[in-house]
Amino acid sequence: MYKYVKKLNYPVNIKKKDLRMAKYVITQLGGYAGELGAALRYFSQKFTMPDDKGRALLNDIATEELGHCEMIGTIFSQLVADATLEEMEAAGLGSYFTDHKKGVYPIDASGVPFNAMVFASTGNPLVDLSEDLAAEMKAKATYENLIDLATDEDLIAPLLFLRQREVVHFNRFKELYDYYKNKY
Ligand SMILES: [Fe+2]
Repeated sequence: MYKYVKKLNYPVNIKKKDLRMAKYVITQLGGYAGELGAALRYFSQKFTMPDDKGRALLNDIATEELGHCEMIGTIFSQLVADATLEEMEAAGLGSYFTDHKKGVYPIDASGVPFNAMVFASTGNPLVDLSEDLAAEMKAKATYENLIDLATDEDLIAPLLFLRQREVVHFNRFKELYDYYKNKY
């Protein structure tokens, strides 16, 4: 079961609207390397990890990734909060406004909605953990692209935090992969 902690994993206090970055950052919710896919991937895979150690790790990281979904939703909401309809249209978010107004919806930077085909759950711990290592590297690379595109320190700080968490997750998955590799 889950207990909700009523604060973000890392504070998000963006004061300046930035529709250009809103359009890009939503990919870390709904894109192939996004937090929603990560949360669902690890949550799905945990059931066939072979022992408590593996199940606990996948569960911990899945839960944290769900917290990161909340951060990306908060970032997007703050980036668009003060925007007018005209500004959204001018920034290429007219289609988004048509379907969602300023609501948070999981799409990638090109507007493609989230699809569970971005992850697998194979029932084989080594195969799943290999995917998880790649997933963390892809998420880290995407955060680096977003950091390169961003100009506001209030946005860059939470992106740097999220990037660093991907490094931690990669290392924890690698330890588990190495622990299992001669057993399975
Ligand atoms: Fe991660």
